[in-house]
Amino acid sequence: MHVSTSSIRMACLDGCTCAVAVLCICLVLAGSVAGDSAPTCDLVGSSEKESAKEKAVIQKLMPLRAVNFTTTVTTGNDTYIYSFRVCNNASQDLSSGLIQYNEKSKQTIVVGRINETHVFNGSDWILLTYRGGDSYKSHCSQEPRKAMVMISCDRNTLADGFTIMSEENSKESDCLYLFEMNSKLACPPEDTRLSVGSVLLIVLACLLAVYLIGGFLYQRLIVGAKGMDQFPNYSFWQDLGTLAADGCDFMCRSKPRNAPAAYRGVGDEQLGEEPEERDDHLLPM
Ligand SMILES: *[C@@H]1O[C@H](CO)[C@@H](O)[C@H](O)[C@H]1NC(C)=O
Ligand SMILES: *[C@@H]1O[C@H](CO)[C@@H](O)[C@H](O)[C@H]1NC(C)=O
Ligand SMILES: *[C@@H]1O[C@H](CO)[C@@H](O)[C@H](O)[C@H]1NC(C)=O
Ligand SMILES: *[C@@H]1O[C@H](CO)[C@@H](O)[C@H](O)[C@H]1NC(C)=O
Ligand SMILES: *[C@@H]1O[C@H](CO)[C@@H](O)[C@H](O)[C@H]1NC(C)=O
Repeated sequence: MHVSTSSIRMACLDGCTCAVAVLCICLVLAGSVAGDSAPTCDLVGSSEKESAKEKAVIQKLMPLRAVNFTTTVTTGNDTYIYSFRVCNNASQDLSSGLIQYNEKSKQTIVVGRINETHVFNGSDWILLTYRGGDSYKSHCSQEPRKAMVMISCDRNTLADGFTIMSEENSKESDCLYLFEMNSKLACPPEDTRLSVGSVLLIVLACLLAVYLIGGFLYQRLIVGAKGMDQFPNYSFWQDLGTLAADGCDFMCRSKPRNAPAAYRGVGDEQLGEEPEERDDHLLPM
């Protein structure tokens, strides 16, 4: 009785220690999360109402957060440099995700902001959209700019090939800057299932192994065979081997094996093609 109560108390103490430890860890984690004020993608809706699908795709893209993507394009006399970051600020403006820098006028325009992120994925691509960029001055009904980045599957790279595909600004509305890049993060999970052929091969190998081992044991233990006879159906396989050899001999030999010597042309001997025929002359006459 006494023992059990003390052990219960011990268990309770252990439990309490455990709970306190867990609480501490949680507090530390919460503190570190709260302390980490680096900008990140904000999806539509307050944090608990965000789409779970979008969150999953964003999570997938997180390894790219540290990378700066840039691409340079020259149109007419102007050279534009586009900088893009995944869920991170592309400039001192903390909400900018994709910016355009005009080398000539030294002007920076925010094309899309990470606090208005939309994202969806297909089987081997991810489409990341940043809305809420700086408004057009005259085109596109002066709507805010919008950047779309098409990320295609490429298993050989974490991320590269960031380029601008087109800048559509001749529409009445819904204009966009379209970019593309490659990343293995857009790839579907590797298909590890075996093909039908390999499954068949494995099954055949297993059957063969069972046959050999089972037959071997049967021959040895029950029939009491010794030596090569321990192999199952040894004489059958021997016959089969001989048959196969005969068949091959028949199929592959270009000349009949025991054709009469008179059949051959006189010049055959001079050709020296068949060294074994010359042996005939070595025989005692
Ligand atoms: C990205 O660019 C910023 C500012 O230009 C720079 O401070 C940072 O080191 C760059 N990061 C990488 C990973 O290149
Ligand atoms: C480019 O610059 C040249 C010389 O400065 C000028 O003559 C030309 O009109 C410019 N072209 C465009 C498309 O602005
Ligand atoms: C992002 O914001 C931080 C904090 O203001 C800044 O230090 C960093 O340079 C910014 N990144 C870029 C690429 O400008
Ligand atoms: C995103 O940030 C920009 C600038 O900080 C702000 O003007 C805009 O209202 C924000 N958008 C949303 C949806 O919060
Ligand atoms: C999109 O990504 C999610 C999360 O990674 C994944 O479960 C889903 O299968 C992907 N959709 C398609 C069409 O592959």
